[in-house]
Amino acid sequence: MHIPTLATALTFGWAASAAQLTQVSNYGGNARAKPGMWVYVPDSVKIDALVVAIHSCQSSAQKYFQNNKIPWKQGSDRKGYVTVWPSSTTECWDVSSKASLSHDGGGDSNAIANMIKYAITQYKIDPKKVFVTGGMMSNVLAATYPELITAVSLYSGVPAGCFVSSSGQSAAWNNTCSGGQSIATAQKWGDVVRAMYPGYNGTRPRMQIWHGSTDGTLAPQNYQETVKQWTNVFGVSTTPTSSKPDTPEKNYRTDDFGENVQGIWAQGVGHSVPSHLDVSEAWFGL
Ligand SMILES: *[C@@H]1O[C@H](CO)[C@@H](O)[C@H](O)[C@H]1NC(C)=O
Ligand SMILES: *[C@@H]1O[C@H](CO)[C@@H](O)[C@H](O)[C@H]1NC(C)=O
Repeated sequence: MHIPTLATALTFGWAASAAQLTQVSNYGGNARAKPGMWVYVPDSVKIDALVVAIHSCQSSAQKYFQNNKIPWKQGSDRKGYVTVWPSSTTECWDVSSKASLSHDGGGDSNAIANMIKYAITQYKIDPKKVFVTGGMMSNVLAATYPELITAVSLYSGVPAGCFVSSSGQSAAWNNTCSGGQSIATAQKWGDVVRAMYPGYNGTRPRMQIWHGSTDGTLAPQNYQETVKQWTNVFGVSTTPTSSKPDTPEKNYRTDDFGENVQGIWAQGVGHSVPSHLDVSEAWFGL
């Protein structure tokens, strides 16, 4: 009888992966907001890069990690990078209060920045290889912590600061913005970003913006507004430098606005545009 050896088991992929999503109970910093931090370190770390995968509304780090439509665990296993999974204490991330919309304001964005700083030290991440993906919060994080993040892949979000609450409420829903009625010039949207970290003059995260043309949760107009915002931040025109139909797949259109801003318009797709692991990883240079 043939008894499989360890080598045979490995060859046929029988050895179970030991890596698991693990909670970090004290990631440090003094933000008032205390979202949870979860981390996934693959069995074989091959690259000193970090991807922060930020869950959508009515989700959590664990649910997002277990959702088989969210491919970042697979990316982590395949390419060997670490992933951090923040977990909100509110139904949606706080993208409306002054605290979260300011650099070091003590809100959710501040707490996630603290998770990134913790991860850089703990997992020996190259600070030039920190990437963020998710919805509205990933855009807010790019605006409030530009010095920490290299690139963002934003799925079905809104401009940073679009969900602001005039009464300063935390984690408030904003119907004007979600309905696509928060319309401003590129300059105004750019000013909103710059005001979140006054005086900052370093590099900004490269921004990839995905949006579906039939998004019924965050109206499609938010795509144009977000493109205006980040092209202004990078000082480039809102007219694409190149436009590729049926890219990366049929009925999607990829528009480049120079090297630092890319829009991907998904015709006929609602909320949210499914994660495109390969395309987001390519944007990150992974
Ligand atoms: C919703 O956001 C817009 C900016 O996008 C802001 O002008 C408005 O005051 C906000 N609404 C509320 C109720 O806070
Ligand atoms: C840019 O930031 C650096 C470091 O904080 C500072 O020394 C410099 O004066 C700033 N430059 C401008 C033009 O604000």
